[in-house]
Amino acid sequence: MRNVRADFPILNQTVHGRPLVYLDNAATSQKPQAVIDAQAAYYRTINANVHRGIHALSEAATHAYEEARRKVAAFIHAPQTEEVIFTRNTTEGINLVANAWGRKFLKAGDAVLLTVMEHHSNLVPWQILRDQIGIEVRYLPVHDDGTLDLSDLERRLDGVKLVSFVHASNVLGTINPVRQIADAAHAAGAVVLVDGAQALLHLPVDVQALGCDFYAFSGHKMCGPTGIGVLWGRLALLEAMNPFLGGGDMIVKVELERVTYAEPPAKFEAGTPPIAEAITLGAAVDYLNCVGMAEIAAYEHDLTAYALGKLREVEGLRLLGNAPERGAVFAFTLGNIHAHDLSTLLDERGIAIRAGHHCAQPLGKRFGVPASARASLAFYNQPAEVDALIDGLHHALEVFHVS
Ligand SMILES: Cc1ncc(COP(=O)(O)O)c(C=O)c1O
Repeated sequence: MRNVRADFPILNQTVHGRPLVYLDNAATSQKPQAVIDAQAAYYRTINANVHRGIHALSEAATHAYEEARRKVAAFIHAPQTEEVIFTRNTTEGINLVANAWGRKFLKAGDAVLLTVMEHHSNLVPWQILRDQIGIEVRYLPVHDDGTLDLSDLERRLDGVKLVSFVHASNVLGTINPVRQIADAAHAAGAVVLVDGAQALLHLPVDVQALGCDFYAFSGHKMCGPTGIGVLWGRLALLEAMNPFLGGGDMIVKVELERVTYAEPPAKFEAGTPPIAEAITLGAAVDYLNCVGMAEIAAYEHDLTAYALGKLREVEGLRLLGNAPERGAVFAFTLGNIHAHDLSTLLDERGIAIRAGHHCAQPLGKRFGVPASARASLAFYNQPAEVDALIDGLHHALEVFHVS
């Protein structure tokens, strides 16, 4: 992993006169040169609109776009390439399910089960449906250690039509037992959507082994560009759903009186898609495959243990969550120093962390912490960067005279 750092040109810079220590990977990941080059190469050589041009450039762009879909499908072990829909991001994938599946198959009084540890992107779309069509929204509670409370799962699933939850928490670091929850949900007759935003950069993901029905994620959080995301869904479900957006490319035939929709994935990709971004996401998948997801997971496992040990030694530091299955995401408070002050002090030392509610306000409320600092690591981070963070935290304690 020592060598991969050189693949990321952005990491080789100073910020406020100090070497950049980028620990905000849960917000967005950095991009290797191969990914940056892939986007430029697309525009330099084959830029054209896809699916409709009968000329060489359009055919090349279409081929590259569909090849990217195949790469993504293989990366997540999707049974069929047609099950991969390109979206803008995780948020759009979840909204797609809420609207195209939810508005067709949910009616007033039906229940949807979420968890208290969800990102706003997996809370608000369902609350909109609650307010607009009268569904009930339930929540699985979270234990003090940051694991989900599954003790009452069967009872909570009664009357539930869809369960939607996060694979890896962007605050607690918890990796949820997707298979166990999916099996229980299916036994109760519910469909399962998983928010994989924080998983793809860190873990091998196999949607078949996870046993879910939908899986949403963002390209920018897995070494890819912004503006591209993926929703994977089982083909039978995608076929049964309503379309999401209407327009060009998602139809077979349009008459003034009626419209015939295309099959998935085209049915859910209205208008000119994010062609360059999808192709570049394909390059990110190539890159991650080259480094190796199993190697990444093993490296991060050790880095997580190292960071946890160091953080626990800092006096006055309260870590949110302590799940046995967890990734390298550490949200914490330090004495009574405000997270924004902490982030500002660390930034002066070139250290980038996140501060605030991390788009999970109900979770902050659950832990009585409206704002926290968050350091989130990736495979291109090194133990020395954890040490820099720890030094920065001790410096903050001195500045604020916290003993
Ligand atoms: C767990 C989780 N879900 C969803 C999202 C939303 O991702 P995006 O903003 O790329 O749609 C995030 C982003 O931080 C996240 O951490």
